[in-house]
Amino acid sequence: MDRPILKTPDEIAKLRVANQIVKGALDLVGEMIEPGISTLDLDIAVEKYIRDNGALPTFKGYPAPSVNVMPYPASICASIDEEVVHGIPSAERKLEEGQIISVDIGTKINGYCGDATRSFAVGNISKKAQKLLDTTYRCLDNAIRVLRPGVLLTEVCAAIQKEAESNSFSIVKQFVGHGIGRNMHEPPQVPNYVSRGGRDTNFELPVGTVLAIEPMVNVGKSEVIAKRDGWTIITKDRSLSCHWEHSVAITETGVEVLSI
Ligand code: MF3
Ligand code: CO
Repeated sequence: MDRPILKTPDEIAKLRVANQIVKGALDLVGEMIEPGISTLDLDIAVEKYIRDNGALPTFKGYPAPSVNVMPYPASICASIDEEVVHGIPSAERKLEEGQIISVDIGTKINGYCGDATRSFAVGNISKKAQKLLDTTYRCLDNAIRVLRPGVLLTEVCAAIQKEAESNSFSIVKQFVGHGIGRNMHEPPQVPNYVSRGGRDTNFELPVGTVLAIEPMVNVGKSEVIAKRDGWTIITKDRSLSCHWEHSVAITETGVEVLSI
């Protein structure tokens, strides 16, 4: 079982700095979202914001998940409608009224990483899309609410799954949250559902645990596939998908959301 690499209060302070830059960049994105803007416009603005704040965009150049795929070419992932995660920004991809878009941003500063995602509505969206946004956010929020020193990782996974499925949505199983620290991806993996009866997640999370919790929720079936670019993940049935993420620390006094 892959236990977390525990962080000291000093290290948590550094993770807070990295995550506050992510938060600022997501605020900037929120101000920019409107019909007509391209996902590349968002990427350029975010990369400048990250660098102006003395950090590096961790996604840029990140090694591909499979051979014959280029390293990740941008600073943000921008995933629209049926795109689940890892949508590559492009000048051709302009936002349209009624879409939903998740923007995922990673930073590194003073050796520590930040990672968070928000989903946004582009103008007026359907009731179904709004319910998906709200439910996915509640999945993340409920997961954060169960955190406390010594909580079982399975409890976190179960809180996410329950919220999604009780709203008749499905959880993406192929992608998971993760520990975060000096590296963007550290143990443990944080599935958004209880896998194998909870056997892989049946351990306690002590003070000093820092996790990036990132539910991905689909309106339709849970299966996802990669597009030809090797990065962009879409729902197999092309149903709408949504993604929220926060980096969260378990401390002596409770829980701190580092990216809020
Ligand atoms: N938040 C995502 C993750 O935790 C973003 C990774 S994008 C990549 O895995 F390009 F860096 F892979
Ligand atoms: Co992440």
